Amino acid sequence: VDLAASARIIAAAHRDTPGGLLPALHAVQDALGHVPPAAVPGIAEEFNLSRAEVHGVLTYYHHFRSTAPAPRVLQVCRAEACQAMGADALLAHAQQRLGCGLHGRSADGGVTLEAAYCLGLCASSPAVMLNDEVHARMTPERLDELLGTEVP
Ligand code: FES
Repeated sequence: VDLAASARIIAAAHRDTPGGLLPALHAVQDALGHVPPAAVPGIAEEFNLSRAEVHGVLTYYHHFRSTAPAPRVLQVCRAEACQAMGADALLAHAQQRLGCGLHGRSADGGVTLEAAYCLGLCASSPAVMLNDEVHARMTPERLDELLGTEVP
């Protein structure tokens, strides 16, 4: 599969929308799991922008990945309610356990670690999301259990 070509086609659907670059990049990442660097020239052409401009947007928003994510993506919520309930300590624990930093990939390659900014579970914070499942009232111990479980 030519990922760059696919990305360009996906992005082009947003070409005529004002401010369409951001939704286009989101659509590409949703579909492909990341925004391949090789896709940047084609996307830039679709939007009549320079490669540097598209690259700038991609690096400004930490949400965008330039490489394919691991099979499992762990997002630790860092918004206010979760911060107040120990999200920083939870994130530090996750980094230590996975052996990688934020936006990095775990030492065994199985998990990509990301931040989230509110997962809608503020009342039972701190919250994390593992792939598409949210988990409330997270503790370091429960996180270990969660990460220890096999990919279904
Ligand atoms: Fe973390 Fe809302 S602030 S779920």
